[in-house]
Amino acid sequence: MRNYIGHWPTKRIDRRTLLLAAGAAFASAHVGRADEPSETSLRQRAEKKGLVFGTQVNAGPLFSLKPYQDAVLRDASMIVPENEMKWRPTHPTALQSNYFNANRIAKFAEDNKLLLRGHTAVWHQNPPAWTNDIIASDDGQKLVLEHARELINHFSGHVMEWDVVNEAIAPEDGMPGNLRNWAPYNKGGIDFIADCFYAAREADPKANLYYNDFSVYYRSQGHRRDAILGFLEKLKSKGAPIDGFGIQSHLIAKAEFDENIYRHFLSEIADLGLKIRATELDVSDVRLEPDINLRDTIVAAHTKQYLDVLFDEPAVVGLVTWGMTDRFSWLHEGWPRKDRLRQRCLPLDDNFTRKPMWHAIANAFDHAPSR
Ligand code: G3I
Repeated sequence: MRNYIGHWPTKRIDRRTLLLAAGAAFASAHVGRADEPSETSLRQRAEKKGLVFGTQVNAGPLFSLKPYQDAVLRDASMIVPENEMKWRPTHPTALQSNYFNANRIAKFAEDNKLLLRGHTAVWHQNPPAWTNDIIASDDGQKLVLEHARELINHFSGHVMEWDVVNEAIAPEDGMPGNLRNWAPYNKGGIDFIADCFYAAREADPKANLYYNDFSVYYRSQGHRRDAILGFLEKLKSKGAPIDGFGIQSHLIAKAEFDENIYRHFLSEIADLGLKIRATELDVSDVRLEPDINLRDTIVAAHTKQYLDVLFDEPAVVGLVTWGMTDRFSWLHEGWPRKDRLRQRCLPLDDNFTRKPMWHAIANAFDHAPSR
């Protein structure tokens, strides 16, 4: 921050003016100024508290757009591939594996001394088309386990943490144990999910193993909180080697967030002996008016409110955002605004300039209790 005091005619400054100036400087630092490259990075702020800041990356821009790569390297000490480790791209046909982009990301992590998260081995949404009939048959569980083993083993020693199973809970499907209506879960139940974790541990004994899921943040999502908690309890009681719960954190500005409910939920997860990581933070602004300043302010305020509660829980080990810049977000296509404006959902804008959301994350790290 530039020091303007030297430029002021000294005899006209009184104590009140100085105090006002100091207050304004403090406020501007807190609201955040986009043009302050010297400010400490998110990774440094997180590390200071024993936490980790990471971001999702996409191989396309990562290896073709220098400002994007720079933005990632400036702020993140952990990366997770958006799609490159999923089943469809890594095994496009029955006879062919393709780790090209996933390997490039792993090498990028290694070259730049970044931690690498793996996402994701078992997910109902991403099997390639050639697996459809097999997954529906009695051989489905075997195929899913083979895939998980192969994928995790391929990156053994390089990935520090895996989302082994992703989004397996869907109370609305009405299946036993609130499991999603997907053939391998229907046939094998929670024992099959435990087997996925055993397979993962065998494939890479050193990696931390996570279950990853969404929609547990808001008042109206109590049924999902209960279902996931019950599921994790059972998984633990079966002895499954699970180390953590990944809370995706796809937030919605203007949804009803109750700090006490969320605090309590986090503590219940922690009581199971699990680590917690927010794994996919972004904030949808679909419910907000078009005005950009207003959207940025509300998105930042919600981010701060959410992270303050999250970081208070000692079991929380860090935060990963689902992208660094508004330029690349699944939300633009996945959940478009009615007015077709682009969402302002991530820490940097389309031109990689820090938004109030960046400062909200910075501020939350600064105020987080040390681990
Ligand atoms: O690669 C094909 C391309 O060949 C084709 O031309 C194009 C046509 O639409 O599609 C491309 O695939 C897309 C893929 O992203 C790669 O860009 C898929 O259509 C698209 O559905 C896919 O979306 C991803 C989605 O997961 C499904 O895998 C998003 O980028 C990704 O951000 C999103 O991430 C998920 C997490 O994995 C799990 N939690 C929720 C989160 C958001 O949905």
